[in-house]
Amino acid sequence: MEQTLIIAKPDALQRGLVGEIISRLERKGLKLIGLKMATLDSMLLQAHYSEHIEKPFYADLEDFMKSSPVVLMAWEGYECVSSVRLIVGATNPRSADAGTIRGDFAMGNGRNLVHASDSKQSGKEEVSRFFKASELFQYDKSEYDHVYPPHERS
Ligand code: RTP
Ligand code: MG
Repeated sequence: MEQTLIIAKPDALQRGLVGEIISRLERKGLKLIGLKMATLDSMLLQAHYSEHIEKPFYADLEDFMKSSPVVLMAWEGYECVSSVRLIVGATNPRSADAGTIRGDFAMGNGRNLVHASDSKQSGKEEVSRFFKASELFQYDKSEYDHVYPPHERS
């Protein structure tokens, strides 16, 4: 089953939107397999956002991501990476569709509440970057019988 990493960023924690973010993903039918709070350091952020290090916004991005703790989540679901990106919405929250997390709750560029993995491969890599194997939980979700047809349940 595909996995995706979600980070409820410092603005989500400060603005009391962590529950809203979790709730939207739960109600979609996704399975929560890991959840913890952490303060991210420069080394971890440089690995996580390596494609952006040379960009002009990187300094602000790193400072912002270190500005308070974050909530890290690993979610699982059939083809979940692309469907979670649709729930999260466009990077610039002022252009994000209404009905998405960023479109409904954010305004500032770079203050967009949530990180979500952007491919199946990055989902796998990012979940392993932020979670030890012992912090990830495998269990049966009875809801799956009603969320998916049989061939999409494993
Ligand atoms: P994320 O990685 O956090 O899920 O966001 P994303 O895929 O939608 O966007 P990405 O292009 O990967 O950018 C990573 C984060 O960098 C900040 N950013 N600021 N000021 C700017 O122009 C700008 N562009 C990107 C955002 O916080 C974005 O989420
Ligand atoms: Mg990204």
